[in-house]
Amino acid sequence: MCGIVGCALKRRASDIIYGGLKQLEYRGYDSAGIATLSKGRISIVKRQGKVEKLENCIGELCGNIGIGHTRWATHGKPSDVNAHPHAAGKFAIVHNGIIENCSELKEKYFPDADFLSDTDSEVIVRLLDKFYDGDLLNALKKVADLLTGSYAIVVICTDYAGIAAVKYKSPVIVGSGADGNYAASDAPALAGLCREISVLEDNDLALVTQDDVRVFDGNLNEVSRAVRPNLATPANLDLGGCPHYMLKEIRESPYAIANTCAVFHTAERELEKICSGADRVIITGCGTAYNSGLVAKRYIEQFARIPCEAEIAGEFRYKNPIVGENTLVVAISQSGETADTVEAARLAKRANARVVAVTNAPYSQLTGIADVVVPVAAGPEICVAATKSYAGQIAALYLLANVLSGRATDFEEMQKISRLCKETVENTDISAIADMCARSGGVYFLGRDIDYAVALEGSLKLKEVSYIPSEGYPAGELKHGTLALIDENAVAVVVITSERLAGKTENAVEQVLSRKGKVAVVTGLESVAKKLKDRAEIVKICDCGEYLSPLISSVALQLIAYKTAVMLGRDPDKPRNLAKSVTVE
Ligand code: F6R
Repeated sequence: MCGIVGCALKRRASDIIYGGLKQLEYRGYDSAGIATLSKGRISIVKRQGKVEKLENCIGELCGNIGIGHTRWATHGKPSDVNAHPHAAGKFAIVHNGIIENCSELKEKYFPDADFLSDTDSEVIVRLLDKFYDGDLLNALKKVADLLTGSYAIVVICTDYAGIAAVKYKSPVIVGSGADGNYAASDAPALAGLCREISVLEDNDLALVTQDDVRVFDGNLNEVSRAVRPNLATPANLDLGGCPHYMLKEIRESPYAIANTCAVFHTAERELEKICSGADRVIITGCGTAYNSGLVAKRYIEQFARIPCEAEIAGEFRYKNPIVGENTLVVAISQSGETADTVEAARLAKRANARVVAVTNAPYSQLTGIADVVVPVAAGPEICVAATKSYAGQIAALYLLANVLSGRATDFEEMQKISRLCKETVENTDISAIADMCARSGGVYFLGRDIDYAVALEGSLKLKEVSYIPSEGYPAGELKHGTLALIDENAVAVVVITSERLAGKTENAVEQVLSRKGKVAVVTGLESVAKKLKDRAEIVKICDCGEYLSPLISSVALQLIAYKTAVMLGRDPDKPRNLAKSVTVE
């Protein structure tokens, strides 16, 4: 959460920082700000709202050194004064994370001070100002040692011709480019600026000047960190002619499937080893990643007949889970930085479990913890709502389940699914359903077994981008309470992809219709479409069998969510109150 970019350049910094913040807006858009250093003076502009609010003021910011921030509010409401950078004395800082002992620090070191903002971050800059004795690195280290919680902090100081950074549990990368050197919270900020980046480790500090980047470990020993390619490039951050990233990224789902299959061999051997003898599987993740885990649970139990639980990472962490050396813990995360998922993986590691990461971020915190990384090759996902990464995760988890069960993967079949997914993206007309949803008071996504797992994801997507109240429900459970909510303002979107369960799920359709609710049916089955076409809106998708159907049906549900949001005038790329990469707990 929160995007950070800082630089020490041979040219003016403010426009480069502004450009970087625009690329990072998916990390938060409650407020934005930039501070630059010129002739020993710090100038700051900051505004509540999206990064574009800064556009007219960046001209005021001179200097080749600077830091910028786009905020997702945790401590302190979105406002100009709570926006970063925060300044005190010779310093300005930007911070991503949460300082959990902020009140204690304020009480101990500043009992009589009036803080300007309600943020937990302001205490950091006050402490820097207090402890600074002419050595920036030492002061930063001293302050970092006082903090508990999580932080990525980037600093400018009037005495230093560069920027300094420190990190713990929140990501910081550094990189070099033609115009100078950079630190940022993640790679898209540096797209087009740095071909290569290095990822800092916990407790690392960095000093970044025009001429070099120096990294120090927590004992202040100078260290080098591996240099990796920056996978974010201007080309893959482009809207590609689409009005929104959400649509562009839904359209990229077929490639996410195909590319994930293409790179799977890089993990296969290690995966075979780690799966051997596993007698239990726990899948963990948050939000959409958890929902893809619900699909994977079905694969693993059906194919491998090994008991498998799917646990929301934020719950798994706090329930003293039963995990042993024969437990395979599969942590799923698009960003690889979600705090609860990262901590769940750490907990599993401490309990000697075998930990597999399924992630779209090859150099993330999660990959540093896992024994084996199964890559999701979806490419950078910018829209806050996950779409193509869900498809990539399902493909990766299907392949993982095959390894676990000893089934051979039919890669030709996977290619075919990728093509069917493309057909679905290009040819599915969901306008009538989106219209129904946009006018409704609530939307219920129903399904059984694997379709229920997809229904949960469809519901999350719709509520997230359209703000329409929505629930995902097992079709058979409707009559045990939720049916009371059905009236003429309600819409049920029913997913039916399994011949085996179609008849039973159709009962739920009847139950909704007889309470005057409106029904849309997403199905690959001709028989179902024919039977219900006069009483329900039908979205006919390709029939691709039960197990791989989530790769097709989920795309139809994503399109419904997207179209509904657009009809209601929402910005689907930046839903209110949300941010991508939830790096706070
Ligand atoms: C929903 C969505 C979130 C994320 C969740 C986990 O559209 O994007 O629910 O899935 O915050 O994020 P990652 O996968 O990065 O761990």
